[in-house]
Order: sequence, then C-alpha cells, then structure tokens
Amino acid sequence: MSPIIRIAEAANRRREAGHKIVSLTTGEPDFPTPSHIVEAAHAAATSGQTRYTPTAGTDALRGAIADRAGAAADQVIVGTGAKQVIFNAMMATVSPGDEVIVTAPFWSSYVDIVRICGGAPIIVDTAPTAFKLTPEALAQAITPRTRWLFINTPSNPSGTVLSPADIIGLADILRSHRHVAILSDQIYHEISYVPFTSFRDAAPDLTARTLTVDGVSKAYSMTGWRIGWGIGNPTLIRAMSVVQAQSTSGASSVSQAAALAALTGPQHMLAERRAVFQARGQRLRRGLEATGMLTFGDADGAFYLFPSCEALLGMTGNGQRIRTDTDFCEYILQAANVATVPGSAFGTPGHLRLSYSYAEDELDRACNLILGACLALT
Ligand SMILES: Cc1ncc(COP(=O)(O)O)c(C=O)c1O
Repeated sequence: MSPIIRIAEAANRRREAGHKIVSLTTGEPDFPTPSHIVEAAHAAATSGQTRYTPTAGTDALRGAIADRAGAAADQVIVGTGAKQVIFNAMMATVSPGDEVIVTAPFWSSYVDIVRICGGAPIIVDTAPTAFKLTPEALAQAITPRTRWLFINTPSNPSGTVLSPADIIGLADILRSHRHVAILSDQIYHEISYVPFTSFRDAAPDLTARTLTVDGVSKAYSMTGWRIGWGIGNPTLIRAMSVVQAQSTSGASSVSQAAALAALTGPQHMLAERRAVFQARGQRLRRGLEATGMLTFGDADGAFYLFPSCEALLGMTGNGQRIRTDTDFCEYILQAANVATVPGSAFGTPGHLRLSYSYAEDELDRACNLILGACLALT
C-alpha cells in the first residue's frame, strides 16, 4: 500500500473515531479563486461559450499563453490541468523500454504516468546534493534509451528552486545528448521567494526539445478548474493534440475563459499571496526547528517544507520503535493528531512533506502538537 494512502486511511479512521485532525497534507492553495476570474467564467457561460473548443485550446487562451512565454500559438497546447499535459506528452512519445529520468524527491504522478505509458522511470536521488540534480549525476543517468529528463522548479515536495547556474550546468550536459528531451514543470513558478528562472529562458538553444509545463492551478487558486498547458515544438504539440483529441477532446470551454481572465486580468494578488505563503513557511519552519529533531534545507518556493526526520529514527514513541519516516508520520498522527506525508511517498525516505497552505493559527496548532509529540519521544 502506498505510504500516502496508508496515512490518509489512518487519518480517516481517527477522524471517524472523533479526533480532530490537523492536516498538513494538502497540495492546493487555501485561497479562493479571485472573483474577477469567477465572473469571467460566468459571463462566458451565459454568453454561449459552452461548446467544444479546438482540441488544443481556444485561440484566445493559446495566444495569451504564447504571448507571455514569447512563443507562437502553435507551440501551445491547453489541457485539463498540467497533469493531463504531462500525460499527453508521455503517451505521445514514450515507447516500451524508453527511459525517463526523474529526480527524487518527485511528485509521485511523474513515475506513475511514465509507467502507464510503458516507460521506465530512472530515479536519481538528489537528497545528498541539497535536492538538486548535479550535472555529474545527470551525465551518469543518461543512456541511449533516455527519452526525457523531468525537471520541477520550484519543486513539489522539496520547495527547491533551481538557479540560472543550476540550469546552465544541466544544459551543458544535455547539449551533447541530442536524443534527450526536457520536460520542465514550473506549475509553482509564481510561488517562488527568489527570482524564478525557467529552463527555457536559461537554455534558449534547447527550446526545440524543451516542453514547458505550467497552469493556473497553483498561481491563481484554480485547482478545480482543471486548466494547464504545455509549450513546446509544434511537432510535439500536434502529437499531444492527437492524444488529447481521443481522450478528453479538449479542456472545458468555461474553464478556458476563466484561465484567460486569470492571465490577462489583474496580477497584484500573486505577489500578495506569495508574501503570505513565504511568511507561513518561515513561521512553520521556525516552530518546528524548536523540536531540534527535524532538519531543514533551503525551500525557496511552492508551499512545502521537506525536513529530514532521520535524527529521530530509532527512538520510541507510544511504546513503539520509530524505524522509518512512515512510522514517524503514523506516530505524530496518533500522538498529536497531525497528518503529514512521509518522504517515501516521493521516493525519498527519511523525510516528511509539510504543506503550509493553511491559516497561521492552524499552522501554530500543528507546530505545538508536533513539538509535544517529539518531546515525548525517548
Ligand atoms: C509538481 C506538480 N506538477 C503538476 C501538478 C498538477 O497540476 P494540475 O492541477 O494543473 O493538474 C501538480 C499538482 O499537485 C504538481 O504538484
């Protein structure tokens, strides 16, 4: 059973037994979708924008995405969330036996999507290198069967943001391996506390084999609207459209109108929300560092912390030995009623993912409860 499901089921059982669970597990912003976006969707629905759209997205939305990225509209496909865009890309390009390099810790869907499409995920552990793929590790992982390299900055779950120098180092290796395409997932790029650099901007000469994946889910609090997009070379985009044409036919017309309003309307809430996330992240981190048992690396983006819990493995809580990250997550669920996700769910045992997409009083409560549970360990 997957560690996430194990924890989720345990949390549900405790909830049903009458415990109030504080959850730090969510993967979506807690803010509402801005009202001008909701109003644009309403206007689209009442003005008849309720029919099938072109498979790759409405001209207006593809155009707006292309303008922002300095690309052409035929380099853009709109899908039902970034997840479906990634799925389309793998379905369109991966053959059995093809290898896809994924860095751990990873968003677990990467590995599952690659497998569903018949590919072999090649996992590179980045825990020893501050959650960053090094050029040396990339060079070692590439084989003649490598089809794709996945990059995710800012990262879910580690919060790591790649610098221009990090990307240039990877691009130097990729230049001499022309058979490797790059999928750069920047869905959290509006939630970066340091200046964000896209792979496309830092390595423009690799644009023809780079698929940039982005969307409105995280930036504009629109997870339920299901709009994401890919920007890549027109041949790849057409192949992805063929997959999309026979799976969903295209994204929802009303949601596309909403996404267009998000991209072309006021943007001030992005900086405001980013500042709130940053303050919450710092608050949670400060609070948990007081345990003296959780160790944090740099987390400059997304709304996740991914501390190591290795220092407390081997200790005993509630009469049980804590051997793994999953044991620790189960312990704090039982002892403190706080739900978290073990690092092993993201391919990196010995850690846990904490989402801080919650109000500050909720985070303070979680912190105090975890602190109490850590102090009770022997
Ligand atoms: C790294 C990463 N990429 C993509 C997605 C999917 O986003 P969407 O809601 O647009 O499908 C998520 C969602 O959690 C994510 O964490």
